[in-house]
Amino acid sequence: MIPQSTIDRIVDAANIVDVVSDYVTLRRAGASYKGLCPFHDDKTPSFSVSPARGVCKCFSCGKGGNSVHFIMEMEQMSYVEALKHLAKKYGIPVEEEEMTDEQRQRMNERESMFAVNEWAAKYFSQTMMNNQDGRAIGLAYFRSRGFRDDIIAKFRLGFCLDSPNAMSNEAKAKGYNEKYLIDTGLSVKRDNGTIYDRFRGRAMFPWIAVNGKVVAFGGRVLDARTKGVNQKYVNSPDSLIYHKANELYGIFQAKKQISKEDMVYMVEGYTDVLAMHQCGIENVVANSGTALNEAQIHLLHRFTNNITLLYDGDEAGIHAATRSTDMLLAEGMNVKILLLPDGDDPDSFSRKHNAQEFKDYVSAHQTDFILFKTNLLLKDAERDPIRRAKLTEEIVMSIAVIPDEIIRTTYVHECAEILNMDEAVLMRSTNKNRATIIENMKKEAQRERERQDRLLNNGQSVSSSADASPASTEDTPSSHSNPLSATPPPPIPDDIPPFGAFPDETEVSTPIITTRQNQTEQRFHGIERLIMTLVTRYGEQTIDGEDENGTPTQTTLAEFVQGDLAFDGITLRSPLYTQMLELTCAHVHDEGFIAKKFLLNNQEEAISREAAELISERYQLSKGNQMDQTEEELKTTYLTRLLLDYKNAIVEEELKQCNASLTLPEVKADIKKTLDTMRRIKELGEIQRQLAKMLGDRVVVK
Ligand code: CTP
Ligand code: MN
Repeated sequence: MIPQSTIDRIVDAANIVDVVSDYVTLRRAGASYKGLCPFHDDKTPSFSVSPARGVCKCFSCGKGGNSVHFIMEMEQMSYVEALKHLAKKYGIPVEEEEMTDEQRQRMNERESMFAVNEWAAKYFSQTMMNNQDGRAIGLAYFRSRGFRDDIIAKFRLGFCLDSPNAMSNEAKAKGYNEKYLIDTGLSVKRDNGTIYDRFRGRAMFPWIAVNGKVVAFGGRVLDARTKGVNQKYVNSPDSLIYHKANELYGIFQAKKQISKEDMVYMVEGYTDVLAMHQCGIENVVANSGTALNEAQIHLLHRFTNNITLLYDGDEAGIHAATRSTDMLLAEGMNVKILLLPDGDDPDSFSRKHNAQEFKDYVSAHQTDFILFKTNLLLKDAERDPIRRAKLTEEIVMSIAVIPDEIIRTTYVHECAEILNMDEAVLMRSTNKNRATIIENMKKEAQRERERQDRLLNNGQSVSSSADASPASTEDTPSSHSNPLSATPPPPIPDDIPPFGAFPDETEVSTPIITTRQNQTEQRFHGIERLIMTLVTRYGEQTIDGEDENGTPTQTTLAEFVQGDLAFDGITLRSPLYTQMLELTCAHVHDEGFIAKKFLLNNQEEAISREAAELISERYQLSKGNQMDQTEEELKTTYLTRLLLDYKNAIVEEELKQCNASLTLPEVKADIKKTLDTMRRIKELGEIQRQLAKMLGDRVVVK
């Protein structure tokens, strides 16, 4: 376990805005920041980050927490792994005992695969820089293509020696398990059980995911050594940590600049990315020869709304550019296209021009995608009325998928002009298509909802109520699931929470009742949660109370809660809350103790998570005209009321049980039992009246 003092240092250093910004472009919104949620298919910013509270939360899917929880979710790591990950990022040494064999075993599979990939990237790079063959063959190759050493280092390029298993043997000698060499695809197992290096004799391009981890490799055969090799590029196979279709080559090196320039260039290959960096254009990624898929689009959309497709000006390039563009448009992105002179790809083009010329060419030639497509098709169909009709249809379809109405209208206007058509006709046609699209989205959302309901009800199908269809705002339905996130997208909320600022204690939270089961438990949980919200936020603060004799006392809020409950011989029902309260009270007199920090940074993951929830929660202390009361008084009044509510709930529940038990045959038959029960009912009634009086005496805060 990591010592508490180290956890404190890590969490202090891991500024939430900084941590989240590695994955999402954040924009300031008042005291907080907002961006697109990385955990679900978010089209409008639902993800809020509050630097003051050190937490983030998606007000649509509910995910979030402090920086550690964010990393856990994002990287699918355990609590301890996430802490170590952040420690590394912020250069905080973690006192770590040598890993025991058992611990090594426990290190999960993904981590082991990342570890072996990271080692291999270093090994390939060192081989290329230090080994004689590495320099003569690998380094010479990259240099012959004109790549500078800083670009080679930035992309961690390397070389795999042309030997059957030099890499595999070295890895095993360093203690890496053969299983992970095979799982990552670095080594391949022969039928006879021996293994060989998949990338032998190839120039190596590591794929670095958005989080900086090496997830795969691409290996290029050297021109001089094509004998017996029929594939120019070999890639790592898909694995637990790599799905080629979902990744974008270069995203890690590009993300800062994408965010800064608020736009991204999309190119086809590894060398295009390298060449553009070399000429000073760093906001570029490659989809590596395949059509873009949704996961890649979501990944980009987290950083920017603007994408320029940069392709070869030949047929193939044009074809590549027009594939998957409707998907980009549907995602709400602004798509531009730039064709290079026929026969040039960004790699070759950038070698013929200097950086400024490249940039000038780009800004002079990039065109809006819809207008590009319209012009392209128009040229195609100049005098052919049938093709012209079909072309209109296609353009209308592309416009119709755009979520933003104003943008759609603008396009209709411009395209009508280019096509020399009646704008109203084009608009009607677009709207008709749009209606169909919305209809389909709704159906899909409904299906998704039903699926979720079924899951929730453990396979029992439930009839969905009539109002279960998604909200009618056409720009929000989630039409597709996000393959990036481990969990299915949440059902569309009936009322979409307001986007924007992190709620500043503006609303009283109502516990969300997810199932119809056990209303009583829900009620208890709701009150406990509010009590613990106060303990978490203000646990160490002193409040005024009074003892049994009515003498004024001063105590910390946490101890006040504990004492008050103990006085009546009750504890909180939730074992987690009980533990949190006990721990807080045990430490509340430690020097510099702050409950919020203590719980949020706790060594126990469950405590830390719950604390993040309670801190993120929207609620306020006061509602109504409490103007004459100080914050302190409010806190006390509110807390006292909650505690009375809690006791009242307990009494009510016991009363219900007693009344029910009076009708039981075995109680009916036993006169003593009946009398005892009736006595208890009387007692409880008396307690209830006292509680009501106390509640009435207090200023009611709700
Ligand atoms: N690609 C791949 N696997 C292949 C072929 C291609 O992953 N078997 C991807 C690579 O990312 C490659 C891109 O598709 O960079 C484009 O392929 P291609 O045009 O053939 O390669 P170039 O990038 O032009 O490579 P080079 O300039 O080194 O020939
Ligand atoms: Mn090329």
